[in-house]
Amino acid sequence: MPKVFENHEIAKDVYRMVVEAPDVVKYRKAGQFVMVRPGAGHERIPLTIADADKEKGTITLIYQVVGKTTIEMSRIEAGGEISDVAGPLGMPTHISKVGTVAIVGGGIGVAPSHPIAQSMRAAGNEVIAIMGARNKDLIIMEPEMRAASDEVVIVTDDGSYGEKGFVTDALKRLLDAGRKIDLVVAIGPPIMMKMVSKLTKEYGVSTLVSLNTIMVDGTGMCGGCRVTVGGETKFVCVDGPEFDGHLVDFDEMMRRQKMYSRHEAESRHLCRLDGGTSHG
Ligand code: FES
Repeated sequence: MPKVFENHEIAKDVYRMVVEAPDVVKYRKAGQFVMVRPGAGHERIPLTIADADKEKGTITLIYQVVGKTTIEMSRIEAGGEISDVAGPLGMPTHISKVGTVAIVGGGIGVAPSHPIAQSMRAAGNEVIAIMGARNKDLIIMEPEMRAASDEVVIVTDDGSYGEKGFVTDALKRLLDAGRKIDLVVAIGPPIMMKMVSKLTKEYGVSTLVSLNTIMVDGTGMCGGCRVTVGGETKFVCVDGPEFDGHLVDFDEMMRRQKMYSRHEAESRHLCRLDGGTSHG
């Protein structure tokens, strides 16, 4: 079973896990994800690969504690093991030299944006990272993003760090200042990706979004991750996770996510009450 080398909280309810996955390291590309099962009997959850160490054969996963499975995952100590890591899954990001790429990461969305920033820069692009969170304590991976980008703009809703406002304000300011941006990659909460896509559509800037829907099997069989893109049904796990932000039906996606969030809240409550000894 894969060994866990690190697992600790890096922001409120956000954890960083470094886990053994040599085969994933060998084949993974920016934009891909893995399905992780913390223990026998737990459900599998999709997590994007935030970083990888080729020599050690480890991958870094950043995850937010939102329900029973992630609570269990947060309790695994360094030196422990998890049941399995399957992947890499999903289509890799199309990396090419386009000029200037703005990577917009909201909250925990900064984690999957990190390998994309690294790959885009390695392909010769100028990379501007716009990182947003509700407050200073929720900004994650700042040193890593600074190392992977030519320029970093930090925004917080409450102004406790960086500029006060939303990532869309920072992006709009750059565009209004005449900054030539050839591609935007937005990863974060659905509402953030919706607003970024709305803004970039007005400015005519191509935009990729990485969708973080519920997934069950991660192989295109269950339909749990389906979304509508350009009027067509797509499966995030096999057709995505990245899509043209101007074509995604975010309202439908958010309605579907809402159905699950009530169950997550209930399971989180139960898990905290029963000490996490039961799994679903
Ligand atoms: S997770 Fe089942 S079809 Fe995508």
